[in-house]
Amino acid sequence: MTSEKKYSVVIAGGGSTFTPGFVLDLIKSQDKFPLRQLKFYDNDAERQEKIAKAVEIIMKERAPQIKFSYTTDPKEAFTDVDFVMGSIRVGKYEMRSYDEKIPLKYGVMGQETTGPGGMAYGLRSIPAILQIIDWMEEYSPNAWMINYSNTIAIVAEACRRLRPNAKVINICDMPIDDMDRMAAICGLDSWHDIDFNYYGLNHFGWWKEVRNKKTGEDLMPKLKEYVKEHGYWVGGDYDKSTEASWEATFRKVADEYALEPETLPNNYMQYYYFPQWEVANADPKHTRTDEILEYRQKIVFGECERIVKAGTAADNIWDISGLHSEYIVDICHAIAFNTHEKFLANCANNGAISNMDPDSVVEVPALFGADGIQPMATGEAGRFQRGLMMEQQTCEKLVVDAYVEHSYNKMLQAFTLNKTVPDASVAKKILDDMMVVNKPYWPELK
Ligand code: NAD
Ligand code: LMR
Repeated sequence: MTSEKKYSVVIAGGGSTFTPGFVLDLIKSQDKFPLRQLKFYDNDAERQEKIAKAVEIIMKERAPQIKFSYTTDPKEAFTDVDFVMGSIRVGKYEMRSYDEKIPLKYGVMGQETTGPGGMAYGLRSIPAILQIIDWMEEYSPNAWMINYSNTIAIVAEACRRLRPNAKVINICDMPIDDMDRMAAICGLDSWHDIDFNYYGLNHFGWWKEVRNKKTGEDLMPKLKEYVKEHGYWVGGDYDKSTEASWEATFRKVADEYALEPETLPNNYMQYYYFPQWEVANADPKHTRTDEILEYRQKIVFGECERIVKAGTAADNIWDISGLHSEYIVDICHAIAFNTHEKFLANCANNGAISNMDPDSVVEVPALFGADGIQPMATGEAGRFQRGLMMEQQTCEKLVVDAYVEHSYNKMLQAFTLNKTVPDASVAKKILDDMMVVNKPYWPELK
């Protein structure tokens, strides 16, 4: 261990389906990121308690030295913490279902973080995340918030503009998932073995360079050969528990790559390159939300119930590390121990992509340390990529304008400009339906 200091962490969104896996990874990483206290905070007491009761047993059995508690009281939650993990889903799966199904009603792709659904979700998340930042600053002014609550690009733009000095870092694990696949394709153990240059926006980016971290070998030629046939689909043991819809997503990368073979795409580009393919393959009555409710959420809450009934967490399903939680632990470690390790962050551009606006949010490599992040220069975006990014980034900025100005028109412009929406009249129909269901969460748009 490099330090005697032990940390206090609060997970905001304690009722998240990712929480138990994250807790298990935190416990396993005590030599890397030692804890003295772990708290959960959620605004849904009942949902959080189902997870917390199982975690109580896990903590008693495996880490009795770490004080564990859960609460719905912000003061209790955010006092005496070093790290706040942002894992909230404003409006929960009920609202995600609308994000996906309303656009599909009008022949437009419906997705959690992209297209009109992603913008609707972003507008719901802004006030909740700003509130959590404010509580953190009031009750634990030295704490860092690691936020992965979506829609990250929009939340990060709101943070850049409205809380420019806040100690918040907006991150995403999707590129890590893609990089772990690249490592497997090249016969390496994990994404830790890969060095990279990547640029873009959240869920909207490209690898310029992928190298073997130890030897420096350029892995792009090998990867391109593989990706043009199989995308990022690895198969075999690697993918034995990957859901069918994710298999389609990773295979689709082959078509994304064919469109722009200089770089390797983030798998989320499928939604922008092939929105009509998404619509044609979607079932408007059964979207990704339904899949999660029937699969991940059912498994997570079922397992928590089993643990509580059995009174023990022996042989639980989270004993195998998850990429998502492993990544977050690594980031906390880098900040706590000032390692200046390289990860991706969503932050103000300020020249990181030389031909994009300085006052805009981009997703680029950054060095993570005790003072936060130092974004790295990635060079120039290609003409194709720059054009796509300018459009998408403007949508994200317009959503924040809509939040600040309570402007219906700005939100309508955001929907109209988006690559996934054919014209302003369709944009208006989607927005008008979304206004009704989002009433409890959005500012009143006039
Ligand atoms: P979930 O619905 O299972 O859990 C979210 C929890 O947040 C719920 O318990 C809910 O009650 C709570 N919540 C909602 N609004 C809140 C508020 N204002 N204050 C406190 N708690 C609140 O969600 P999930 O599927 O586990 O995902 C959690 C978040 O992580 C989502 O935003 C999701 O989009 C995001 N996510 C991010 C990444 C990434 O790498 N960036 C990857 C996966 C998921
Ligand atoms: C999630 O895991 O909820 C999303 O972030 C991605 C998905 O659709 O599974």
